[in-house]
Amino acid sequence: MTSNGRTPDEAAEERLLDIRDLRLAFGNVVALDNCSLYARPGEVTAIIGDNGAGKSSLIKCILGVNRPTGGTMTFRGQPHTALSPHQAKDLGIEAVFQDLALFDDLTLWQNMFIGREVRRRVGPLALLAKREMAARADEMVSRLTVNVPSARRTVRSMSGGQRQAVAIARAVAWGSELVIMDEPTAALGLRERTEVEEVILGLRAEQRSFLLISHSFDQVMRLSDAVWVMRQGRAVAHRRTRDTTGEELVALVTGAKSAEL
Ligand SMILES: Nc1ncnc2c1ncn2[C@@H]1O[C@H](COP(=O)(O)OP(=O)(O)OP(=O)(O)O)[C@@H](O)[C@H]1O
Ligand SMILES: [Mg+2]
Repeated sequence: MTSNGRTPDEAAEERLLDIRDLRLAFGNVVALDNCSLYARPGEVTAIIGDNGAGKSSLIKCILGVNRPTGGTMTFRGQPHTALSPHQAKDLGIEAVFQDLALFDDLTLWQNMFIGREVRRRVGPLALLAKREMAARADEMVSRLTVNVPSARRTVRSMSGGQRQAVAIARAVAWGSELVIMDEPTAALGLRERTEVEEVILGLRAEQRSFLLISHSFDQVMRLSDAVWVMRQGRAVAHRRTRDTTGEELVALVTGAKSAEL
């Protein structure tokens, strides 16, 4: 039995993502060194660590961008030694990056549906169902706490916070199972950051599952349910957020406090 009264098997069932002994090297640089961590469904799982600790390398393995040389990634009970970007998408895993991959000159709805265009058949033609996509995009962003202008506007005219909200809405709309966010507010001002955090908190309340990489200990304390600390390619400490403090997390990241798993 575990401390919360469940058997280890029952606890394992609660893992949406279970990473075991993941290894990845770029030439002589070991980016991931037997990294093991997990995320529960319906939670925001934060990954913190100094520059170069391996956070982005890890999530790129989950997104199918990096190919690990060892270990397993078990997603919803299915083990994978490596994923392709296509497989990751099929599994319902999507990402939001700091340098948001939105296209400035396209409208909000075009950005939402890029690569997933809805078509309607008119005789021999398959025409883009623009009106339908615009309406669906409006609906996707209307659920967010951030006020986003009409889906027919180009992204260029939107603020940084609105753009990031659109990027998150897009990831959440398509990333049905897990949304990964690598520094989602790093490029934003204070007010915009708060807006985006409210979007994330609203989605967390809907039991969506997130992996959040952040250098802001305060943000991790505000948004996450659980925290993993990475150092030199490994997960070296794990905390339930309610059982830790920003000060302890700082100490774990810097090594002032020795880590243990
Ligand atoms: N494409 C690559 N080619 C070579 N080395 C890489 C590559 N990507 C990452 N690395 C190296 O792998 C290690 C881990 O980098 P990674 O980007 O995963 O760190 P990080 O924890 O995301 O850091 P940051 O907080 O600065 O974003 C670093 O030493 C980095 O230089
Ligand atoms: Mg990084």
